Amino acid sequence: MRGKLVVGNWKMNGGLAANAALLGELTSGWIGTQGREVAVCVPYPYLMQAQAALAATPIAWGAQDVSEHAAGAYTGEVSAAMLVEFGCRYAIVGHSERRQHFGDTDEVVGAKARAALAAGITAIACVGETLAEREAGTTESVVLRQLDAVLRAVAGEAPKLVVAYEPVWAIGTGRTATPEQAQEVHATLRQRLRAAGAGTVSLLYGGSVKADNAKTLFAREDIDGGLIGGASLKASEFLAIARA
Ligand code: 13P
Repeated sequence: MRGKLVVGNWKMNGGLAANAALLGELTSGWIGTQGREVAVCVPYPYLMQAQAALAATPIAWGAQDVSEHAAGAYTGEVSAAMLVEFGCRYAIVGHSERRQHFGDTDEVVGAKARAALAAGITAIACVGETLAEREAGTTESVVLRQLDAVLRAVAGEAPKLVVAYEPVWAIGTGRTATPEQAQEVHATLRQRLRAAGAGTVSLLYGGSVKADNAKTLFAREDIDGGLIGGASLKASEFLAIARA
């Protein structure tokens, strides 16, 4: 379904005390709205804490990655079945930081998306070009290559995905894509999704989304919400984005 969705990606931030404060402020501040969902994707060790704090609230939670493997000798990995045990509704896959620092290839990202969906977890598949790729005029071919790898891997399950467009040059830089730049890429992604029978997938924008720019981004036709990094660590800022 093409629902409105705002997801916080805490990245490698937090601690038990800080999380408790943040989760407390989120639950006391957020009033669920029909047709709009809010979720936080926390580091693995804090899934249980998120589950305990959010289980009785309208806020969902998830992980920032998932293994493409089901079980076995994969030291350091966490399977989709494990995430299910902690009530995860979402798992981010293919974040540019995973692609850049941990070597997640298009094929691995596709396999991770497939593993999540097979376990009943919504994979939030990230795509996005680097600054060099944008300047070389290859934005469209890069994001479509990344999306196609996921679509191939999940085949008929594509309507169950969420896709996030995160231009690498806009992540943590304070340099947001303009609503026009974001919409242009989202329209391209939407067209491809439609051709795959998945036109109703929620398409999120991510990259320096703040309370003061969220509204104009989310107002665009093919932008269904956001994947929020830095601003998701402050309850008031994140809630303001969710309300936008
Ligand atoms: P920032 O919102 O900090 O730019 O991060 C975006 C992001 O990478 C979310 O996944």
